[in-house]
Amino acid sequence: MINLKNITVQFTQKKREVTAVRDVSLEVDAGDIYGIVGYSGAGKSTLVRVINLLQKPISGTVEVDEKDLLSLSSTELRAERKKIGMIFQHFNLMASRTIAQNVVFPLAGSGLTKSERRKKVENLLDLVGILDKKDAYPEQLSGGQKQRVAIARALANDPKILLCDEATSALDPKTTLAVLDLLQEINQKLGITIVLITHEMQVVKKICSKVAVMDNGQIIEAGKAVDIFSEPKQPLTIDFIRTATHVDQAEESIFANSPGQIVYELKFSGASSSEPVIIEIFKRFGLTASILYGNIEYIQNTPLGTLLVSFDGNVDFDQVSEYLNGQNVKIRQVNKAENEVSKDENV
Ligand SMILES: Nc1ncnc2c1ncn2[C@@H]1O[C@H](COP(=O)(O)OP(=O)(O)OP(=O)(O)O)[C@@H](O)[C@H]1O
Ligand SMILES: [Mg+2]
Repeated sequence: MINLKNITVQFTQKKREVTAVRDVSLEVDAGDIYGIVGYSGAGKSTLVRVINLLQKPISGTVEVDEKDLLSLSSTELRAERKKIGMIFQHFNLMASRTIAQNVVFPLAGSGLTKSERRKKVENLLDLVGILDKKDAYPEQLSGGQKQRVAIARALANDPKILLCDEATSALDPKTTLAVLDLLQEINQKLGITIVLITHEMQVVKKICSKVAVMDNGQIIEAGKAVDIFSEPKQPLTIDFIRTATHVDQAEESIFANSPGQIVYELKFSGASSSEPVIIEIFKRFGLTASILYGNIEYIQNTPLGTLLVSFDGNVDFDQVSEYLNGQNVKIRQVNKAENEVSKDENV
């Protein structure tokens, strides 16, 4: 559906060249909810703006819905852009127009009659759950309601793709979840492919089927969300996930309470389960495990668990690790120093 190949984008800032996106390739399939995560300045917005050519790359190819966008005339490009809706962190609504007027705006020149347009706007506002606000003005709405209006407006031209740039970053956690539910519904009911920029792994966890992690203008890791969450490879990805699952905080408080403690992290996914494994470790190795922290996340309906445990007695790490690997459970010793280092790096 979206195929970016070897995209590079440069800007000139104070006579210096800044490479915002460096030789990035990205493939998004129809029906995906594709998350793009990364810290501020990583190049996420720039990359996503390349998808509708709001940002022109200096090299690379941009294929959307089987069309090579860089080869189109401006009239053709305008037509293709209608297939791509976009929403933003700060909603970008027109303050002096009513909700209905905001949503009807992109339909100017659509060839629909006035009553067809009115019907369409009502359907869209109904879909996003705020039909009762159609005559209100943006300032009379909450943040979550404003984002619903922006979503309705972005859907006015029946796009195949919806680009979301930090669409929930200005919302509280509960409203964020409600807006994410709406995006998921739009993806499933209308079959719209979604590309979603966020700096929160929680958002990815909730709705994304795939995810790419960006750092310094490049995609450093990408794949199915469940694979990235169960086996992140890059330190930055690991960092993002640990923050999202609160393992960091748990380790911090464990080491603060008992500094000398030897702590192990057990990770399991899918069919493996922690309880029989803990019992088996006792039976086989005579080790009693105290569970210091436990968490199970569901990524696309696949459970991913993390346990922090300490053992009473001497642990033959190689033996225990070999047994656990056979059970699809990964174990590693948590290093106090490492926890401190990774915290320092975040400061
Ligand atoms: N219009 C522009 N002119 C000059 N430099 C730009 C422009 N847009 C972005 N940049 C630079 O490109 C780099 C990537 O910016 P971008 O906005 O894509 O990052 P981002 O990952 O979206 O960050 P954030 O999470 O803060 O939104 C940054 O160094 C930024 O300063
Ligand atoms: Mg951005």
